[in-house]
Amino acid sequence: MHQDVRGLDVTTTSPKAVAHLDLAVADYLNYGTSASAEVKAALAEDPSCVLAQCYRGYLLMMLENPAVFPKLRQTLAELEQAGGDITERERLHLSALKAWVKGDLMNACLAWEQVLNQWPQDLMALKLHHTMAFYTGRNNVLRAVVAGALGAWDEATPGYSHVQGMYAYALEECGAYADAERWGRAAVEGNPEDLWAIHSVAHVMEMQGRFDEGADWLDYSRDDWANKNFFKAHVWWHRGLFHIVAENYDRALRVFDEDLSSLNSETYIDVSNQAAFLKRLQIAGVDVGNRWDLLAEHSATRIHDHILPFRDAHFCLALAAKGRFDTAREQIQSMAVFAKDGESWNARTTQAVLIPLCEAMIAYEGGDHAKACDILWPMRNELAPIGGSLAQRDLFAQILIDAAVRAGRLPMARNLLSERVALFPRGRRGWREYGKVLADLGELDLAAKAHRSAETLSSPAAA
Ligand SMILES: [Fe+2]
Repeated sequence: MHQDVRGLDVTTTSPKAVAHLDLAVADYLNYGTSASAEVKAALAEDPSCVLAQCYRGYLLMMLENPAVFPKLRQTLAELEQAGGDITERERLHLSALKAWVKGDLMNACLAWEQVLNQWPQDLMALKLHHTMAFYTGRNNVLRAVVAGALGAWDEATPGYSHVQGMYAYALEECGAYADAERWGRAAVEGNPEDLWAIHSVAHVMEMQGRFDEGADWLDYSRDDWANKNFFKAHVWWHRGLFHIVAENYDRALRVFDEDLSSLNSETYIDVSNQAAFLKRLQIAGVDVGNRWDLLAEHSATRIHDHILPFRDAHFCLALAAKGRFDTAREQIQSMAVFAKDGESWNARTTQAVLIPLCEAMIAYEGGDHAKACDILWPMRNELAPIGGSLAQRDLFAQILIDAAVRAGRLPMARNLLSERVALFPRGRRGWREYGKVLADLGELDLAAKAHRSAETLSSPAAA
């Protein structure tokens, strides 16, 4: 038995294995590129180290690729068969991994919560829980679990900035923007490498309509983040959003071409960020050329994935936006089979939220805007289980507004745009769209007022 950098017991005969695991956790939390190599090095030191096996499994799961499942199931079976004397914490990590591989994200989260109740300084459990609470859209759980561990941490605990950054993000998703910014800025001050903390502050700026400030906050170059993994694309995505809502479309397209799509590789294409980005541009009336092609092509290879509803939704969006409706429908059929056969959280969410959402996107892209409205309107405030952030799910609100306008459902559009300008009062395009709908409804005084609001915004802002 040896202790990790925060004093937690690890069952192994090798102190070097523990040192490699510490490096793996630090790199994983900093969104570096060496976590897998460090876990591999730990396993080379001690192949029987169960925590190292779990970390390896976690990192494979983060690839979100069904190709890893056979290998993972085999590892889990071998670990179960081997038995052995492990700690309660390691047993819980094993059970979290097992649940996650089954798509049972709720039980995976519960296992990590049990870890954190007893060992609140288990940074890996905290981060994984944070990620999966995010992908299940449970903002209050996100906040409660970080807050519940927070008391055991302070500046002297290695990795403290990550806890501050996670708390910042959770507070932001719960609407506590001032506190979120305070925690996020403190995290970045403590660790300027902390991409999640940088990103948490950007979310606050997004939700508060501080678009110029946000673009400056995220002014990191490719050189600055040369040693960061693919998550940097999501942070650049946020920078691009600031340009979109400020109606700086040339700059937004440059972010797409230079920072987002340049990270595509033969094995990995970041469909979620890129599809959401292109769709927002199109809704704003920007010609995106042939930029859907590669995304749709890649999405067609992922239609049977069903690893995260959030991912599946964006694969469907890319297919429908490219006009590949047959493939999108095939994906929905595959979702239906997956949902019918499974009892996991993924399966239930797929049935209740993902399938109707995808039907709505197909209708919208196919020009049946009335149908898109009929599906999206009743569920517009119930989309959280699809996962992602408030900013990410805002795409579906934008699609509904556009569908309502195009379908001529003017009272619905007025309602949605009234809500939008209340949420984003600094958004010039929102006020302009609101003014147009009011004018079409004959409410000329209110329309003039809305147009004046658009004009008086010195800096163009939220969509
Ligand atoms: Fe984000």
